[in-house]
Amino acid sequence: MSEKQDVITIDGPAGVGKSTVSRKVAGATEYTYLDTGAMYRAVGLYLERLGINLDESETVSRSLDELRMQLLPAVDDQSDICVLLGGEDVSDIIRTPAMAMIASRVSAIPVVREKLTEMQRVLGKEGRVVAEGRDTGTVVFPMAKHKFFLDADPRERARRRVEQLRQRGMEVDEAEILAMTLSRDKNDRERKIAPLKAAEDAVKIETTDISIDEVVEKILQKISPALERRAGEK
Ligand code: DC
Repeated sequence: MSEKQDVITIDGPAGVGKSTVSRKVAGATEYTYLDTGAMYRAVGLYLERLGINLDESETVSRSLDELRMQLLPAVDDQSDICVLLGGEDVSDIIRTPAMAMIASRVSAIPVVREKLTEMQRVLGKEGRVVAEGRDTGTVVFPMAKHKFFLDADPRERARRRVEQLRQRGMEVDEAEILAMTLSRDKNDRERKIAPLKAAEDAVKIETTDISIDEVVEKILQKISPALERRAGEK
Protein backbone atom coordinates (compact mmCIF):
# COMPACT_ATOMS: atom_id res chain seq x y z
CA MET A 1 0.00 0.00 0.00
CA SER A 2 1.38 3.46 -0.82
CA GLU A 3 2.19 5.76 2.04
CA LYS A 4 -0.22 8.41 3.24
CA GLN A 5 0.74 12.03 2.65
CA ASP A 6 1.15 14.45 5.56
CA VAL A 7 -1.67 16.67 4.28
CA ILE A 8 -4.99 17.72 5.84
CA THR A 9 -7.72 18.33 3.27
CA ILE A 10 -10.79 20.44 4.02
CA ASP A 11 -13.41 20.48 1.27
CA GLY A 12 -16.96 21.72 1.05
CA PRO A 13 -19.34 24.08 -0.73
CA ALA A 14 -19.18 27.88 -0.94
CA GLY A 15 -19.65 29.82 2.28
CA VAL A 16 -19.34 26.84 4.60
CA GLY A 17 -16.47 28.46 6.52
CA LYS A 18 -13.63 26.40 5.01
CA SER A 19 -11.19 29.30 4.77
CA THR A 20 -11.56 30.43 8.36
CA VAL A 21 -11.46 26.86 9.64
CA SER A 22 -8.48 25.94 7.46
CA ARG A 23 -6.50 29.01 8.53
CA LYS A 24 -7.11 28.19 12.19
CA VAL A 25 -6.21 24.52 11.76
CA ALA A 26 -3.04 25.54 9.90
CA GLY A 27 -2.20 28.02 12.67
CA ALA A 28 -2.72 25.42 15.42
CA THR A 29 -0.73 22.70 13.68
CA GLU A 30 1.91 25.03 12.17
CA TYR A 31 1.14 23.59 8.75
CA THR A 32 1.05 25.75 5.61
CA TYR A 33 -2.38 26.86 4.43
CA LEU A 34 -3.09 26.16 0.77
CA ASP A 35 -6.17 28.00 -0.53
CA THR A 36 -6.91 26.28 -3.86
CA GLY A 37 -10.03 28.43 -4.43
CA ALA A 38 -7.79 31.51 -4.55
CA MET A 39 -5.90 29.86 -7.41
CA TYR A 40 -9.12 29.31 -9.42
CA ARG A 41 -10.16 32.90 -8.69
CA ALA A 42 -6.79 34.24 -9.87
CA VAL A 43 -6.94 32.19 -13.07
CA GLY A 44 -10.49 33.47 -13.62
CA LEU A 45 -9.22 37.03 -13.32
CA TYR A 46 -6.28 36.31 -15.60
CA LEU A 47 -8.44 34.81 -18.37
CA GLU A 48 -11.03 37.53 -18.02
CA ARG A 49 -8.44 40.27 -18.34
CA LEU A 50 -7.09 38.63 -21.47
CA GLY A 51 -10.63 38.51 -22.87
CA ILE A 52 -10.26 34.82 -23.67
CA ASN A 53 -13.26 32.93 -24.98
CA LEU A 54 -13.63 30.23 -22.33
CA ASP A 55 -15.18 27.82 -24.81
CA GLU A 56 -11.97 27.69 -26.87
CA SER A 57 -9.90 25.23 -24.90
CA GLU A 58 -6.85 25.55 -27.23
CA THR A 59 -6.68 29.30 -26.59
CA VAL A 60 -7.21 28.84 -22.86
CA SER A 61 -4.47 26.23 -22.80
CA ARG A 62 -2.01 28.48 -24.69
CA SER A 63 -2.66 31.41 -22.38
CA LEU A 64 -2.13 29.21 -19.33
CA ASP A 65 1.40 28.53 -20.59
CA GLU A 66 2.10 32.22 -19.96
CA LEU A 67 0.49 32.29 -16.51
CA ARG A 68 2.78 33.60 -13.79
CA MET A 69 1.03 33.01 -10.48
CA GLN A 70 2.64 32.92 -7.06
CA LEU A 71 1.12 32.19 -3.66
CA LEU A 72 2.73 33.71 -0.60
CA PRO A 73 1.81 32.43 2.86
CA ALA A 74 -0.63 34.51 4.93
CA VAL A 75 0.98 36.75 7.52
CA ASP A 76 -1.18 35.28 10.33
CA ASP A 77 -4.11 32.92 10.83
CA GLN A 78 -6.66 35.73 10.29
CA SER A 79 -5.41 36.82 6.86
CA ASP A 80 -5.93 35.57 3.34
CA ILE A 81 -2.99 34.16 1.48
CA CYS A 82 -1.37 36.62 -0.90
CA VAL A 83 -1.78 35.87 -4.60
CA LEU A 84 0.48 37.47 -7.18
CA LEU A 85 -0.41 37.48 -10.84
CA GLY A 86 2.57 38.45 -12.98
CA GLY A 87 3.97 40.16 -9.86
CA GLU A 88 0.77 42.14 -9.14
CA ASP A 89 -0.92 41.54 -5.78
CA VAL A 90 -4.48 40.51 -6.72
CA SER A 91 -5.46 39.14 -3.27
CA ASP A 92 -8.27 41.66 -2.75
CA ILE A 93 -9.55 41.89 -6.34
CA ILE A 94 -10.26 38.14 -6.47
CA ARG A 95 -12.47 38.21 -3.36
CA THR A 96 -15.62 39.71 -4.89
CA PRO A 97 -18.81 37.67 -5.50
CA ALA A 98 -18.43 38.31 -9.25
CA MET A 99 -14.92 36.79 -9.21
CA ALA A 100 -16.28 33.78 -7.32
CA MET A 101 -18.76 33.14 -10.13
CA ILE A 102 -16.02 33.46 -12.77
CA ALA A 103 -13.81 31.09 -10.75
CA SER A 104 -16.61 28.56 -10.62
CA ARG A 105 -17.00 28.81 -14.38
CA VAL A 106 -13.29 28.46 -15.26
CA SER A 107 -12.93 25.63 -12.75
CA ALA A 108 -15.00 23.39 -15.02
CA ILE A 109 -12.47 23.75 -17.88
CA PRO A 110 -10.32 20.58 -18.05
CA VAL A 111 -7.01 22.34 -18.97
CA VAL A 112 -7.46 24.78 -16.08
CA ARG A 113 -8.01 21.93 -13.62
CA GLU A 114 -5.03 20.01 -14.98
CA LYS A 115 -2.74 23.00 -14.61
CA LEU A 116 -3.90 23.95 -11.10
CA THR A 117 -4.01 20.38 -9.79
CA GLU A 118 -0.39 19.97 -10.87
CA MET A 119 0.64 23.25 -9.18
CA GLN A 120 -1.22 22.26 -5.99
CA ARG A 121 0.52 18.88 -5.87
CA VAL A 122 3.91 20.62 -6.18
CA LEU A 123 2.98 23.00 -3.35
CA GLY A 124 1.90 20.06 -1.19
CA LYS A 125 4.64 17.61 -1.97
CA GLU A 126 6.75 18.31 1.12
CA GLY A 127 3.66 17.73 3.33
CA ARG A 128 2.62 19.69 6.43
CA VAL A 129 -0.08 21.41 4.40
CA VAL A 130 -3.75 22.20 5.08
CA ALA A 131 -5.37 22.21 1.64
CA GLU A 132 -8.79 23.75 1.23
CA GLY A 133 -11.15 23.55 -1.76
CA ARG A 134 -13.63 21.31 -3.55
CA ASP A 135 -11.52 18.35 -4.70
CA THR A 136 -8.45 18.37 -2.47
CA GLY A 137 -9.43 15.11 -0.75
CA THR A 138 -10.79 13.36 -3.85
CA VAL A 139 -8.41 14.39 -6.65
CA VAL A 140 -5.47 16.59 -5.61
CA PHE A 141 -4.32 14.67 -2.53
CA PRO A 142 -6.13 11.32 -2.57
CA MET A 143 -3.47 9.92 -0.20
CA ALA A 144 -3.88 12.70 2.38
CA LYS A 145 -3.65 11.42 5.94
CA HIS A 146 -6.64 13.45 7.19
CA LYS A 147 -9.67 14.46 5.16
CA PHE A 148 -12.64 16.55 6.19
CA PHE A 149 -15.77 17.61 4.36
CA LEU A 150 -17.77 20.51 5.78
CA ASP A 151 -21.38 21.16 4.88
CA ALA A 152 -24.18 23.51 5.99
CA ASP A 153 -27.61 24.61 4.92
CA PRO A 154 -27.37 26.98 1.87
CA ARG A 155 -29.21 29.79 3.69
CA GLU A 156 -26.77 29.65 6.55
CA ARG A 157 -23.83 29.58 4.10
CA ALA A 158 -25.20 32.61 2.26
CA ARG A 159 -25.62 34.40 5.61
CA ARG A 160 -22.00 33.65 6.56
CA ARG A 161 -20.77 34.85 3.16
CA VAL A 162 -22.74 38.11 3.49
CA GLU A 163 -21.21 38.69 6.92
CA GLN A 164 -17.70 37.99 5.59
CA LEU A 165 -18.11 40.30 2.58
CA ARG A 166 -19.54 43.09 4.75
CA GLN A 167 -16.57 42.74 7.09
CA ARG A 168 -14.39 43.28 4.05
CA GLY A 169 -16.28 46.52 3.42
CA MET A 170 -18.36 45.32 0.47
CA GLU A 171 -22.02 46.22 0.01
CA VAL A 172 -23.94 43.06 -0.75
CA ASP A 173 -27.53 41.99 -1.10
CA GLU A 174 -28.50 38.85 0.82
CA ALA A 175 -30.94 37.49 -1.76
CA GLU A 176 -28.35 37.94 -4.50
CA ILE A 177 -25.67 36.15 -2.48
CA LEU A 178 -28.06 33.25 -1.79
CA ALA A 179 -28.80 32.96 -5.53
CA MET A 180 -25.06 33.00 -6.32
CA THR A 181 -24.38 30.40 -3.64
CA LEU A 182 -27.01 28.06 -5.11
CA SER A 183 -25.75 28.63 -8.63
CA ARG A 184 -22.14 27.91 -7.61
CA ASP A 185 -23.25 24.79 -5.73
CA LYS A 186 -24.89 23.53 -8.90
CA ASN A 187 -21.86 24.31 -11.12
CA ASP A 188 -19.39 22.85 -8.65
CA ARG A 189 -21.35 19.69 -7.87
CA GLU A 190 -22.49 18.88 -11.39
CA ARG A 191 -19.34 19.50 -13.44
CA LYS A 192 -17.87 16.44 -15.14
CA ILE A 193 -14.36 16.62 -13.73
CA ALA A 194 -13.47 16.76 -10.08
CA PRO A 195 -16.96 17.73 -8.91
CA LEU A 196 -17.51 18.88 -5.37
CA LYS A 197 -18.09 15.79 -3.25
CA ALA A 198 -16.83 14.21 -0.08
CA ALA A 199 -14.02 11.69 -0.41
CA GLU A 200 -15.13 8.27 0.79
CA ASP A 201 -12.62 8.41 3.62
CA ALA A 202 -13.43 12.02 4.63
CA VAL A 203 -14.88 12.85 8.04
CA LYS A 204 -18.10 14.78 7.37
CA ILE A 205 -18.93 17.70 9.62
CA GLU A 206 -22.35 19.36 9.50
CA THR A 207 -21.72 22.95 10.55
CA THR A 208 -25.14 24.64 10.27
CA ASP A 209 -25.65 24.84 14.02
CA ILE A 210 -22.11 24.97 15.33
CA SER A 211 -19.55 27.74 15.52
CA ILE A 212 -16.31 27.98 13.57
CA ASP A 213 -14.34 27.30 16.75
CA GLU A 214 -16.34 24.14 17.41
CA VAL A 215 -15.56 22.91 13.90
CA VAL A 216 -11.86 23.65 14.40
CA GLU A 217 -12.00 21.82 17.75
CA LYS A 218 -13.55 18.73 16.13
CA ILE A 219 -10.84 18.66 13.47
CA LEU A 220 -8.01 19.14 15.94
CA GLN A 221 -9.40 16.41 18.18
CA LYS A 222 -9.53 14.03 15.26
CA ILE A 223 -5.98 14.69 14.08
CA SER A 224 -4.27 15.24 17.43
CA PRO A 225 -3.37 11.57 18.10
CA ALA A 226 -1.42 11.53 14.81
CA LEU A 227 0.26 14.87 15.56
CA GLU A 228 1.24 13.72 19.06
CA ARG A 229 2.65 10.49 17.65
CA ARG A 230 4.76 12.48 15.22
CA ALA A 231 5.99 14.85 17.91
CA GLY A 232 7.02 11.80 19.98
CA GLU A 233 9.02 10.41 17.06
CA LYS A 234 11.06 13.61 16.66
O1 DC B 1 -13.43 28.37 -2.33
P1 DC B 1 -13.71 29.55 -3.27
O2 DC B 1 -15.05 30.16 -3.05
O3 DC B 1 -12.61 30.56 -3.24
O4 DC B 1 -13.69 28.90 -4.74
C1 DC B 1 -14.03 29.63 -5.90
C2 DC B 1 -14.44 28.66 -6.99
O5 DC B 1 -13.30 27.91 -7.43
C3 DC B 1 -15.48 27.60 -6.61
O6 DC B 1 -16.80 28.02 -6.85
C4 DC B 1 -15.12 26.41 -7.46
C5 DC B 1 -13.65 26.57 -7.75
N1 DC B 1 -12.81 25.64 -7.01
C6 DC B 1 -12.66 24.37 -7.52
O7 DC B 1 -13.28 24.05 -8.52
N2 DC B 1 -11.82 23.50 -6.93
C7 DC B 1 -11.16 23.82 -5.83
N3 DC B 1 -10.33 22.90 -5.28
C8 DC B 1 -11.32 25.09 -5.26
C9 DC B 1 -12.17 26.00 -5.87
